[in-house]
Amino acid sequence: MATARANANIAFIKYWGNRDERLRLPVNPSISMNLGGLYAETTVDWDRTLISDSLGLNGREESGAALDRVTIHLNVLRERLGFSTYARVESANNFPTGAGIASSAAAFAALTVAGTAAAGASLSERELTTLARLGSGSASRSVPTGFVEWHAADQHEASYAESIAAPDYWDIVDVIAVVSKKHKDVGSSTGHKSANTSDLQTARVAGAGERFTRCKQAILNRDFTAFAEVVEHDSNLMHAVMMTSRPPLFYWLPPTLAIMDNVRQWRSEGLRVCYTLDAGPNVHCICVRDDAYAVSERLRASSDVLDVLVAPPGDGAKVIVP
Ligand code: PMV
Repeated sequence: MATARANANIAFIKYWGNRDERLRLPVNPSISMNLGGLYAETTVDWDRTLISDSLGLNGREESGAALDRVTIHLNVLRERLGFSTYARVESANNFPTGAGIASSAAAFAALTVAGTAAAGASLSERELTTLARLGSGSASRSVPTGFVEWHAADQHEASYAESIAAPDYWDIVDVIAVVSKKHKDVGSSTGHKSANTSDLQTARVAGAGERFTRCKQAILNRDFTAFAEVVEHDSNLMHAVMMTSRPPLFYWLPPTLAIMDNVRQWRSEGLRVCYTLDAGPNVHCICVRDDAYAVSERLRASSDVLDVLVAPPGDGAKVIVP
């Protein structure tokens, strides 16, 4: 039995679409930052007396799709670790459930790290990222610390994630404007499959390598101006693909667009802030720490904003109870 903790992450260069659905091999490389303080904590108990896997999520017993997805991932771990014992899994997020914060990255990173530790195995961080990726692509990026890149490749072993900078390398924070707490109708696993139905996906992917390089350089140079430009552009491109997929995926709500507009306005007034959005309507306002208070106050002043969460760069996944 072991417990692990893994932070959620926010992508600056987005992952959208797979070259191999089963292995979750992405069509393009991506970059993210772990969200300090927004984490999943997962305990795995491989128990020879069990006759099936079971899952408790935020104190509720799960069956159906959620349990099936965990079982599929436990099968991956069982195959790699060389045994067939069932497991009891208990997982909880410390961020409000249903706050519209993607939880699968944190959940599958924590499940992979806890499951491995509970078996007494010690795998390299690189391999842990590839295993986490099989549960949820973006989970690969929640394993290493701080600012993380995830390589796109044709082979399972080659599509791994690694840290490009420690959490304290750059003082930026994610100020998340929650505008809806509703669970999304179309999840990202379904969304990835429809990415190619958009005429724009080819163009998005063609430029992704160049945006990836620009974003990585901007982080390494702590160049907020260059960073803001490429991060907003990349988010807009992903949402353009989503909206032009068949069937179309519209994740934005009216307040989403209003906040994006405000963020651009605030930046023109001198605040170092830019926006990025995952597969949901909540707006991640990435800002230099000195400007985070002003940004969160402005967001809180809007009646459209239900909640504001603030996350600095966070650690990688860790075993907290061996
Ligand atoms: O890991 P998934 O299958 O939940 O996909 C994540 C997709 C985005 O959040 C929209 C982008 C990303 O790179 O995290």
